[in-house]
Amino acid sequence: MIDRWPFRHGTALGIGVLVLLTVIVAVVMQASADRALPMGYAAAGEYSFADHCGGCHGSYAGGTEAGPDLVEASGAAPISAIAVERAIRDGAGAMPAVEGLDNQDLADIIAFVRYLQTDRP
Ligand code: HEC
Repeated sequence: MIDRWPFRHGTALGIGVLVLLTVIVAVVMQASADRALPMGYAAAGEYSFADHCGGCHGSYAGGTEAGPDLVEASGAAPISAIAVERAIRDGAGAMPAVEGLDNQDLADIIAFVRYLQTDRP
């Protein structure tokens, strides 16, 4: 094992490769940490949803002519948190991506939508 590349060319090269790998792992971990959402609060999301989504979906996501009901329309299975996140970040069909939200806004809005879905009769 020890006489295989990269060690056969000397310890310095081996250490160099290890340092490089460590840096790559650190960068990848940092990138995924940036993307991970913080804890979301439905009560805060109520306001952000009304501001950013309510115009099309209605303040309580009951739907308007410009956007579908998000609470009942999904049938038996509520729309997953990841589907809500994707719709906001990337858009979905006729829905444009929603700009200008930070990760906390996003998490709060998802929490609010999930709250409406699980609280339905
Ligand atoms: C400009 C109007 C508009 C705005 C603003 C808007 N939506 Fe939508 N949204 C739509 C329309 C239209 C659809 C249906 C898209 C389709 O199926 O073609 C949709 C679909 C969705 C879906 C279902 C996606 C799927 O996978 O089927 C979710 C979830 C959603 N919107 C969440 C949100 C949230 C959360 C916000 C606010 C951050 C928001 N929308 C803002 C118009 C809008």
